[in-house]
Amino acid sequence: EKGGYDYFMLKEIAEQPKAVADTLLGRIDAAGSLTLDEVRIPPGVLREVDKVVIVACGTAFHAGLIAKYAIEHWTRIPCEVELASEFRYRDPILDPQTLVIAISQSGETMDTLMALRHAREQGSKVLAICNTNGSTIPRESDAVLYTHAGPEVAVASTKAFLTQLVACYLVALYLGQVRGTKWGDEIRAVVRDLSQISGEVERVLGTMEPVRELARTLAHKNTVLFLGRHVGYPVALEGALKLKELAYMHAEGFAAGELKHGPIALIEEDLPVVVVVPSPRGRSVLHDKIVSNIQEIRARGARTIVIAEEGDEAVVPYADHLVRIPVTPTLLQPLVATVPLQVFACELATARGNEVDQPRNLAKSVTVE
Ligand code: M6R
Repeated sequence: EKGGYDYFMLKEIAEQPKAVADTLLGRIDAAGSLTLDEVRIPPGVLREVDKVVIVACGTAFHAGLIAKYAIEHWTRIPCEVELASEFRYRDPILDPQTLVIAISQSGETMDTLMALRHAREQGSKVLAICNTNGSTIPRESDAVLYTHAGPEVAVASTKAFLTQLVACYLVALYLGQVRGTKWGDEIRAVVRDLSQISGEVERVLGTMEPVRELARTLAHKNTVLFLGRHVGYPVALEGALKLKELAYMHAEGFAAGELKHGPIALIEEDLPVVVVVPSPRGRSVLHDKIVSNIQEIRARGARTIVIAEEGDEAVVPYADHLVRIPVTPTLLQPLVATVPLQVFACELATARGNEVDQPRNLAKSVTVE
């Protein structure tokens, strides 16, 4: 049932192009409009929404962090993202104009379920983004947008994450469509790019051998750091989480701009630092800033592992290892940038002799608070 792969995780990483395509299927019409009939919250109610709050745990929380950039940019609705386990206990401000989005692969995560129950008690509408048909979280929500990743068996989430991102983009674009936004042209272009993105994910998968080789050479290391900016920051957090749960290594993700406020003190000779580089096109100020961050850490001895777009030449002089990803719109980059980090963690776990599909101390679905 592993389809010829040694681990479910490898199979699930390879299934990502299909999972992404399936999650888009039937949701964008020929004219490039979104047809999210499942979102049964009436357009009138969505037009009144004045705040979006996303609640989730672990990898799903990282999808939520990325969704915030998309939702705020395309809809101009303020969006907060909170760990479900923290949300309920701080008396959050919620009302019927708040749209709460609960993201969960399993649909059974107790922390997320308790957060959504709390939100509904305050009169907020809850939209679930979920991969498991008929599970508790969608049953208790006002509406559900299912991700079509298919069953995810490995404890470490991979294809579910990519489909959660797709679902989040669809919701953000749909909110933009329902409410009308000044980004109409950009939204149309993004919808076009999104409908082609599964081919780009496939292309990344075809270039992963050097990442596997690199991972094997780092199996004896104790620490790996991950840096990113903008949507690359949650990608860095996700890369670090994968490494913790699979390789049992100390891994931390940072916003690259925070380096100088403390973490740069951690940099020492030959410390592997993975940097997710934003596109040099578009918001190029982000790109320039991260190039100086790479220079700074390299000058202090870090071994830089740079994930950058094809054609980005500015990073070449500072990259000890360069991983190329396809050119994508800034907000969609996490769909391609996360893949090398999954492969990296999986290979490191294997090289360290760890149980890839069933890491120690972890369960696939966490049904206790
Ligand atoms: O089923 P859920 O999406 O609600 O699960 C949330 C987290 O427990 C989950 O993403 C966890 O962090 C994964 N093991 C990460 O790979």
